Amino acid sequence: MQPKNSVVHLPVYQPGKSVDEVKRELGLDRIIKLASNENPFGSSEHAKQAILNEVNNTSIYPDGAARALTDAVAAHLSVEHNQLIFGAGSDEVILMICRAYLIPGDEIVIADQTFPQYKHNAEIEGAVTVEIPLKEGVHDLEAMLAAVNERTKIVWICNPNNPTGTIVSAEELEQFVAQVPANVMVVLDEAYCEYVTDPSFRDGLDLVRRYPNVVSLRTFSKIYGLASLRIGYGVGHADVIRTINQVREPFNTTRFAQAAALAAVQDQGFIEDCRQKNAAGIQYVEQQFARMNLESFPAHGNFIMVDVGFSAIEVFNALLRRGVIARAGHHKYPNHLRITIGSQEENEAMIQALEEALAEIKVTS
Ligand SMILES: Cc1ncc(COP(=O)(O)O)c(C=O)c1O
Repeated sequence: MQPKNSVVHLPVYQPGKSVDEVKRELGLDRIIKLASNENPFGSSEHAKQAILNEVNNTSIYPDGAARALTDAVAAHLSVEHNQLIFGAGSDEVILMICRAYLIPGDEIVIADQTFPQYKHNAEIEGAVTVEIPLKEGVHDLEAMLAAVNERTKIVWICNPNNPTGTIVSAEELEQFVAQVPANVMVVLDEAYCEYVTDPSFRDGLDLVRRYPNVVSLRTFSKIYGLASLRIGYGVGHADVIRTINQVREPFNTTRFAQAAALAAVQDQGFIEDCRQKNAAGIQYVEQQFARMNLESFPAHGNFIMVDVGFSAIEVFNALLRRGVIARAGHHKYPNHLRITIGSQEENEAMIQALEEALAEIKVTS
């Protein structure tokens, strides 16, 4: 059997070690996982109750159109119902966009260090990925615009960017979108937008309303704390959403995910609380990094990318031995770790482990 040419070279996604595996292998009682930008405060109590309320309905297919959830999200964002599409995580919305729009030979434009799924899905469709270097960790919108040509189908802007945590301002984004040709889609991946407190930032909904080629991607996996349920969504022009819906599997999001997401979106008190705790966590971690003479990118999501001054893999392993899981392996930033902002207690433990890890490496190097 011969697989598609566009697939044979792709790596299989390698999940990090589970918390239990790390505990067992290193003989540790407690692990602090700051590797996947999950919410350390869990999810809304209303969302948990909504999951329990669904427990007797496991034999019944979900509503393929997610109508009740669509009502709730449309009301929350002040958009029309036909502007929303839900997926098994925003990962699936990325996949569906690529499936619906890309053909072999098309180009996409992305930053050279950003969320990997844009490139991964483009490759499956046989499209070419044009990677534009970040400028001091920030999307270089001017260079990205210059890379747009007649073959370009989609430009992806991750805002805040994973892994650097940086943002592009509302003003820069507006100028950029105004110059992108109307037949090129601009996808704003706003998985972390609910965390941003910087006044120069505005989420993409205003652009979605004014430009039919702009799509915003959101997720319930981050500030809403529902990563295990796999639910995210796209907001765009009704025609674009209809096209994406044409490639959607009939029952792509579960009853549990829809019910929990509906309850979660209606509990904005929980979201506000998480946003404030995260902002305080960033402030604490940035102060500690400054004290330790470590430079980090300005953090706007629920994670921070820091230059640890040594091979990030080495520091990652030294942290792991102390029970802290961070994220290394960013090709453009071999000395940077991406660390999720945890609870205050987790942040303090992380800083202590990092100080010990760096002291150990200094002695041996
Ligand atoms: C920037 C970005 N986009 C999309 C996703 C996918 O999130 P999910 O599929 O859980 O909604 C993630 C997850 O880490 C992310 O960091």
